[in-house]
Amino acid sequence: MPIVLGIESSCDETAAALVDGERRILAQVIASQEAEHAPYGGVVPEIAARAHAERLVPLIDKVLQEAGKSLDDCDAIAATAGPGLIGGVMVGLVSAKALAMASDKPLLAINHLEGHALSPRLADASLQFPYALLLVSGGHCQILRVDGVGQYKRLATTIDDALGEAFDKTSKILGLGYPGGPAVEKLASQGDASAVLLPRPLVGSSEPHFSFAGLKSAVLRAQESGEHAAADIAASFQQAAVDCILDRLRFAFADIGPVNALVVAGGVAANKAIRSALEAFAADRDLPFTAPPQILCTDNAAMIAWAGIERLAVGIAPDPLDVSARPRWPLDPDAQPVRGAGVKA
Ligand code: KG4
Ligand code: ZN
Repeated sequence: MPIVLGIESSCDETAAALVDGERRILAQVIASQEAEHAPYGGVVPEIAARAHAERLVPLIDKVLQEAGKSLDDCDAIAATAGPGLIGGVMVGLVSAKALAMASDKPLLAINHLEGHALSPRLADASLQFPYALLLVSGGHCQILRVDGVGQYKRLATTIDDALGEAFDKTSKILGLGYPGGPAVEKLASQGDASAVLLPRPLVGSSEPHFSFAGLKSAVLRAQESGEHAAADIAASFQQAAVDCILDRLRFAFADIGPVNALVVAGGVAANKAIRSALEAFAADRDLPFTAPPQILCTDNAAMIAWAGIERLAVGIAPDPLDVSARPRWPLDPDAQPVRGAGVKA
């Protein structure tokens, strides 16, 4: 039964976890850097890299201690090798390389998006490939068909902002602080979702992708007009986001082929309005809908360890110790590049 140590440091969470082949999370620790980045209203890469460097080694010690294990008990060391903020990714990957070398264990360089994509299978042993995945977080906004370990078909991505980023920017515009998603959701529950007329970018488009930049600008104009209550803007924004997601999913499902479930992952999966819209979408198609528990939706190291276990299970070879960190690393290498600049990985 394999045990894998996972390390995650691609954005603003420093995390380590030990997971075994029976889907048991033996220990996991996540140190958020929210407080460090809050004054800037978003993640500052240099601050993030320094914070990862300070925290990672004590976190690894802590998970080993909590699980009552040593490096000798691990079958491999898995670390996020991209995509993400390169300074932070390098901190995690270099630490993993050092541990792998010192303990003579294989190194598994994991694509962070693969961690998210396979995380539902850590939570749910019955989830079989292929499944449809909506991956929505601060850095990612994609619809994927997950066919197997290492086999991903990207059906849609964003041509500008990720959905979590749109929530965070809306929060900033409304003066709600960072991270914005939970604050916007809370305020939205007190507002009227039809009060403010906001655009639904790319809805009805024959291009499969998402776009949220225009929605964010419209939120800014609505706020600056002084005509609307913040709660109404929040509720209208959230409704526009739901409408965009449903429309893009409908488009993707037109030729997705057979899938066993609709799955949502990433930090935005915490949003209840989005979850219930997805539940209804899946029910209409007689598909089960699943979302991993919150702690596995946001960035964490258990999903990185689990991706390592899945890779070992299908016989994918470990990575050499000189493997590079990759700021960009698409899950589906055959996916066509999208128009627009600033596309998040
Ligand atoms: O997966 P995650 O922790 O980190 C990234 O990989 O980006 O996702 C964080 C994102 C943030 O943009 C945050 O605002 C958003 O997820 N988020 C939410 C909610 N909770 C977190 N967005 C909408 N509603 C929520 N309840
Ligand atoms: Zn993530």
